Amino acid sequence: MQSKGVQPAVIAVVGSAMMDLTAYADVLPEPGQTLAGQLFTTGFGGKGANQAVMAAHCGAQVHFIGKLGDDVFGSAIAENFVKVGIDSQFVETSSTPNGVAHIWVDGNGENRIIIIPGANHEIEISKAVEAINSIAGLSVVVAQCEIKQEVTLAAFKAAKLRGCTTVLNPAPYQEISAELLALCDWIIPNETEFRELHGELPTSDEILKSFRPGKSSIVTLGSKGAVYVSPDGQLHRVSAPQVSAVDTTGAGDAFVGSFAYGLASGKDPVEAMKLGIAIASLSVTRKGAQSSYPDQTEIATLS
Ligand code: RIB
Repeated sequence: MQSKGVQPAVIAVVGSAMMDLTAYADVLPEPGQTLAGQLFTTGFGGKGANQAVMAAHCGAQVHFIGKLGDDVFGSAIAENFVKVGIDSQFVETSSTPNGVAHIWVDGNGENRIIIIPGANHEIEISKAVEAINSIAGLSVVVAQCEIKQEVTLAAFKAAKLRGCTTVLNPAPYQEISAELLALCDWIIPNETEFRELHGELPTSDEILKSFRPGKSSIVTLGSKGAVYVSPDGQLHRVSAPQVSAVDTTGAGDAFVGSFAYGLASGKDPVEAMKLGIAIASLSVTRKGAQSSYPDQTEIATLS
């Protein structure tokens, strides 16, 4: 939470906004099988928007850079940004339909997701750069992999030229260019994304230390918490409280959004991680992505 005398946490998220169409079923169908589920919901999602909303709930001044469809999903998301207090002057609309995510959640709270990026893939490089260059007091720029990588690359180049801190959540995994990797101050993969980026799972200290020597990374480990590998090769592990998970959708985004807030407000990285773990752990006890995130009042009770 922002307090008097603390530097303002100004964050830009260049990323995706989706409408999540979620089916909950204790058991998921096999190919060719039809099953009855228990619940269907429509909710606000997209990794970029989730992270932006989470950072805003923490108290950051958040600017979203993205593209919405000129349709009912896009309009609802735009209204939600206003409600949450996210600045959307850099959000454009497209005649391409808004991005959607089709999500299945099983009885253990585990999900399977298919995204249809739609308008998210139409963000223009020049608009993203213009936005990064014009946000006053910007300190942290966050991105994921649901938009075109060339947009993230240009945004991070502009961010580094301004002296901002860049945070990449490489989700969903895609091959990341050496040029973009070099521009990332922080990379925050989960275990699977770590394996895809590094060739093996983060099962030992040695493997973690060999990931990005001299640079910062955090690997999120689900119910086991997260581990921060600092540039000098030290490992800092933060465990997660034991909770009963009903839906893990958006938990990684809750971590990234609150961690980015922590960094932007001048917290020590381990303290920022602790906040991220507390919030992400709470989010899995509720259904949905953004609908599962604590608000500012509830966040205050966590610290
Ligand atoms: O990380 C969770 C998110 O992934 C969902 O909200 C869905 O929209 C997909 O983008």
